[in-house]
Amino acid sequence: MLRYVAADMSHTITLIPGDGIGPEVADATKRVLQASGARISWEVHNAGAEVAEKYGTTLPNEVLESIRRNKVALKGPIGTPIGKGFKSVNVALRQALDLYANVRPIRSLPGVEPRFEGTDLVIVRENTEDLYAGLELMIMPGVAQSIKLITEKCCKRICEYAFEYAERMNRKRVTVVHKANIMKLSDGLLLEVFRQVAQGFPRIEPAEMIVDACAMQFIKNANKLDVIVTENLYGDILSDLGAGIVGGLGIVPGANIGADAAVFEAVHGSAPDIAGRGVANPTALIQSAVMMLHHLGEHVAGDKIERALTLVYGANKARTADLGGSLTTEQFTEMLCDAVAQNG
Ligand code: NAI
Repeated sequence: MLRYVAADMSHTITLIPGDGIGPEVADATKRVLQASGARISWEVHNAGAEVAEKYGTTLPNEVLESIRRNKVALKGPIGTPIGKGFKSVNVALRQALDLYANVRPIRSLPGVEPRFEGTDLVIVRENTEDLYAGLELMIMPGVAQSIKLITEKCCKRICEYAFEYAERMNRKRVTVVHKANIMKLSDGLLLEVFRQVAQGFPRIEPAEMIVDACAMQFIKNANKLDVIVTENLYGDILSDLGAGIVGGLGIVPGANIGADAAVFEAVHGSAPDIAGRGVANPTALIQSAVMMLHHLGEHVAGDKIERALTLVYGANKARTADLGGSLTTEQFTEMLCDAVAQNG
């Protein structure tokens, strides 16, 4: 597990701008971090289709080496072709660095989705196995099989991560989300391991919920949910549902954490429909960078940006197009940088 480091040093961070809206939101995020006074120098590398021709791969070794050396990366979205073409760079990165915990806080911003105000839950998603292990085959023409791989080792480390996170962040409850009533062996294994791990954390209340019921709770009682630990596929779907109730993909951050490295990235993709138009909402990557700052021990800078976001969304009612406003990425970023500077 990565440990927090003293805040009196500067940090070299790998920056992967990504493609689509990636470079636009990455640029905005760099500016906001600079305004916060965080001491960061960036080592910029890219991955995905745009580097494939030069390096013969979508995930060049130098990207992985840079992250291994710096231990922390901030990453913009990278597009993946659907149904054909190269394997997801995002999945490959998580596998290569064994970034087993995908942490996605779903928190409402003031005035954005009043119906779901007060939502403050965190999804801890297992990031390396389940149906995302890529174990697929055509058994015969017309019959395809995907293997759902669940291991005791990965269940244990993700459950431990979720309980440790809950303790560290002063949370009260960890709920395991599963479908063990149907998948009695695979999801049953997660449930069994969760119950064992929970015994080591007496201060945190353990709870269990079936995934379909959980989806309904997101809509009915999101403000009662706390930390959720779940498998890869359920976590992926619930995160987008969570994003939807607090205002959409433009605002929800995420982190991929491993024992030796951490990659911070927004939940959203490369949004090719709006790429290059200067209208993307950079909040999700900025909030991912705030998670990164806290991970680095740069709490002063992280808190400053969080306060500024509350101010800009609440008092100033600043909104980009995805939230019904008319601010461009540039205008929003400028407003946020000003608020960060004034809240110093
Ligand atoms: P998407 O998240 O890129 O877009 C879905 C919708 O949300 C679009 O209408 C888009 O305009 C909007 N949106 C997303 N982020 C936004 C932002 N910051 N501001 C304003 N609007 C925003 O999902 P989609 O279209 O399914 O995927 C596009 C590509 O991104 C695909 O190639 C996919 O594989 C890739 N992707 C990459 C991810 C990553 O790098 N971690 C994660 C998810 C998808």
